[in-house]
Amino acid sequence: MSLPTKVKLVDVGPRDGLQNEKEPVPAEIKIGLVHRLQDAGLTEIEVTSFVSPKWVPQMADAAEVMAGIRRKAGVRYSVLVPNMKGLEAALASRPDEVVVFGAASEAFSQRNINCSIAESIERFRPVVEAARAQGVFVRGAISCAVGCPYEGEVPPSSVERVARLMKDIGVQHMGVADTIGVGTPTKVRRAMEAALKHWAIDDVSGHFHDTYGQAAANTLICLEMGIWQYDTSSAGLGGCPYAKGATGNVATEDVAYMLRGMDIDTGIDFDKLVDAGKYISDFLQRKPNSRAATAVLNKRAG
Ligand code: HMG
Ligand code: MG
Repeated sequence: MSLPTKVKLVDVGPRDGLQNEKEPVPAEIKIGLVHRLQDAGLTEIEVTSFVSPKWVPQMADAAEVMAGIRRKAGVRYSVLVPNMKGLEAALASRPDEVVVFGAASEAFSQRNINCSIAESIERFRPVVEAARAQGVFVRGAISCAVGCPYEGEVPPSSVERVARLMKDIGVQHMGVADTIGVGTPTKVRRAMEAALKHWAIDDVSGHFHDTYGQAAANTLICLEMGIWQYDTSSAGLGGCPYAKGATGNVATEDVAYMLRGMDIDTGIDFDKLVDAGKYISDFLQRKPNSRAATAVLNKRAG
């Protein structure tokens, strides 16, 4: 077993974390979260998504949020784009990276982006081409890589197919997502192995929602496979509006604590990270959904 010595965490809290919030979160609060995350040493932040405001009203302020960010050298800012309309709006806001998001399950693809998997690939093709022509890096995400809220268990062959199709259209990085957090280490390993049939280990990342409390274990098994990039969410915020019952991404605090304890470098200042999670949790008037953050905050209070 050889573990990576460095890991990159992409904080998706401002996007995945907040997209599911019912009450509007003002742009200035989202911007404040991005600033605190970069101050805590995160070098990649998924800021927002340029999607239909009718579908996801919380992300309607995407351009305002991107315009308000004080950009820090060495930090990359990514945004989700579902189609050319989203890309055009996104490019005006100068992201470093755009994310096209497909699914390994047909039913989820229909519910989330209103088209089949095959149609989504055709929709992404010009998006990838236009983004790359502008020098913008393109990441792809495969939702429901182990389970789907509508179809149940998803076989690795479905992940492999979408991973191959994304590669064929010029996507540059492949994120494998357990959207509803049903994965366990063996299933997640199989989903990752399916993606790795078409992708190099350095071009694959894990995105684990923590609904059933398996995300740290799933991260650990991926670390053992040599995967060193993960999406995590400050304070464990989040969920997908089209994946009812699924809770947030694994908390950045929980993964950062685990990695620090394993002497794996993330470049993150853990205390500042806890502060960032507390900032957004205070705004939302709830406790951080992170065991590590809760432990630190209790210790501070005591
Ligand atoms: P549609 O209704 O089929 O699209 O939705 P359309 O092309 O027919 O357009 C309908 C209306 O939306 C039109 O406006 C368009 O202009 C507008 P109208 O004429 O009715 O006034 N529109 C847009 N507006 C702004 N930005 C755009 C855009 N596109 C069309 N980009 C569509 C198709 C893809 C747009 C829609 O289904 C959508 O926005 N879906 C996004 C859903 C979403 O954001 N889900 C959450 C993110 S994915 C996720 O969380 C999973 C992830 O975390 C990984 C994991 O955990 O699995 C990434
Ligand atoms: Mg997600």
